[in-house]
Amino acid sequence: MEQTLIIFKPDSLNRGLVGEILHRFERKGLKLVAMKMIYLDDDILGSHYFHLKDKAFFPVLKRFMSSAPSLVAVLEGVNAVEVVRFLVGSTKGYEADAGTIRGDYSISSQCNVVHASDSKVNANIEIYRFFKEDEIFSYDKIDLDFIYSEDEIEK
Ligand code: TYD
Repeated sequence: MEQTLIIFKPDSLNRGLVGEILHRFERKGLKLVAMKMIYLDDDILGSHYFHLKDKAFFPVLKRFMSSAPSLVAVLEGVNAVEVVRFLVGSTKGYEADAGTIRGDYSISSQCNVVHASDSKVNANIEIYRFFKEDEIFSYDKIDLDFIYSEDEIEK
């Protein structure tokens, strides 16, 4: 099944929002298959945000992202990449739709509580940027038969 990477950014840990946000992903039916707490250092932020390296806000973004630990996690589900981006909402909290995670918990373009991979290709790169193969778990989740129809589950 499709997998995607999410990061609970330093603001979500400092503001005590991790449980509430994780709950939203779980309630949707996404399966948690990996999770760990790390400090994002300059090297990893340089790769993760390479597409933003020439932006004026890049140094401030890196300082924010390394100001406290982050939680990185892998979620699994049918169309997981698209579904998680949809739940997370658009980049700037003050523009994100109400009902999305950023729309409900953020009013900033930087402190927007979570990162989510934006394509299948990037999800694959980002998952293996943060996790080794043996840190991603494969297990039978007992509610899957009630989350998906018989023909939606890829066995
Ligand atoms: P980006 O990859 O454009 O968006 P997304 O996180 O939705 O995939 O931007 C990465 C992060 O850069 C974004 O989550 C927060 C930060 N950022 C700023 O700090 N200022 C800005 O003006 C923008 C657009 C992003």
